[in-house]
Amino acid sequence: MTKVFRFGVIGCGLMGREFASAAARWLHLSDTRARPEIVAVCDTNPALMDWFRTHVPSVAQATTDYRELLANPDVDAIYCAVPHVLHAEFYTAILKAGKHLFGEKPFGMDLAQNREISAVLADHPHLVVRCSSEIPYFPGAQKVFDLARSGEMGEIIEVEAGFLHSSDLDRNKPINWKRMEPINGAYGCMGDLGMHVLHVPLRLGWRPQSLHAQLVKRVPERPDGKGGMAPCTTWDNATISSRVSAGGQDFPMVLKTWRIAPGESNTWYLRILGMQKSAFFTTKSPRQWQWMDYTGGIQAWQTEDLGYGSLFPAITGKIFEFGFADAIQQMWAAYLDELAGGNANGFHCATPEEAAAHHAVLTAALQSGRENRVVTVDYAGGAV
Ligand SMILES: NC(=O)c1ccc[n+]([C@@H]2O[C@H](COP(=O)([O-])OP(=O)(O)OC[C@H]3O[C@@H](n4cnc5c(N)ncnc54)[C@H](O)[C@@H]3O)[C@@H](O)[C@H]2O)c1
Repeated sequence: MTKVFRFGVIGCGLMGREFASAAARWLHLSDTRARPEIVAVCDTNPALMDWFRTHVPSVAQATTDYRELLANPDVDAIYCAVPHVLHAEFYTAILKAGKHLFGEKPFGMDLAQNREISAVLADHPHLVVRCSSEIPYFPGAQKVFDLARSGEMGEIIEVEAGFLHSSDLDRNKPINWKRMEPINGAYGCMGDLGMHVLHVPLRLGWRPQSLHAQLVKRVPERPDGKGGMAPCTTWDNATISSRVSAGGQDFPMVLKTWRIAPGESNTWYLRILGMQKSAFFTTKSPRQWQWMDYTGGIQAWQTEDLGYGSLFPAITGKIFEFGFADAIQQMWAAYLDELAGGNANGFHCATPEEAAAHHAVLTAALQSGRENRVVTVDYAGGAV
């Protein structure tokens, strides 16, 4: 029988509503051991909670105070999608309230906040805690991951992982909290996009040992929406050139988190080049992946249309396209499966340990970019 987990949503903005949509069409998935039911919502903006009350009939509690939601005994688990500066306060309160947590990235605004969360988590090991990162659930990304994990690629030549956005190319785009350092954090674009690019490399055990980062700020102010201008204080783009030593291999890995990438609306990509096999996936061609086998003869990349070959089976025919909303739902299926005691069909959501490792990388990158020097990544105590 399908087990039901009752969810509270804290932060009913962009991502809160994506979860509501994924939960509302759970019948899309054909074989799951658990499903979410959203029973409580919290946001400081009451209009956003009205949207939930209108569209999600199971919502019985709507409050502007997250503490009231955490006191609700009918809530088993929380999805928390609030501005970064609030992560540590909210996530630690959620854990102390004994609720399972699906937290948005970057899982703490900075290294100190992330450590605060990890410390509280250590006292609540029975809770299922994961960090959001959905793009690796695209079938093409899974193909690249599987090939890399198989060990058949031979010596790795180079890895490049990136997430590119373009809307900030428009200098007239009004400012929001994601461009304000006190709310978004000093990582800037790296905090927004870093977990997305590091999720698969970290899952493969590819931790950068040292790195050099180029950080770019191109737009110093933006319209404040009230007729004036407001300072835009976060980094726009980061290019991190790192060195990985893992499993007897030593190779370069380039990580790009760009908010100003002309023409790229939401491009996540992963390219792994090996001496025997190479692989590439980009959300620009969402139903395809590419790979190359080299056995000494011709060098030719092959492209396969994958269609809807999802990790969790769905009612959609295999020939049809897979998209962003599907990746979100697959990620949620993986989390629900773990809540119910499953193994997420072999690809669980990003763990708190992976989130902590990504903080170590971003902290080193921030220092490197500011000081223009190579920095060793310290996974135990922060960057040195
Ligand atoms: N996984 C992804 O692909 C993805 C994409 C975008 C954002 N995110 C992450 O999701 C989180 C939220 O981002 P978003 O884009 O949904 O932002 P958003 O601004 O659309 O939503 C955040 C919501 O939090 C609410 N909020 C602010 N203070 C609050 C408080 N004290 N109590 C309750 N609610 C409060 C705001 O009113 C807002 O509705 C961030 O951590 C961000 O990095 C993830």
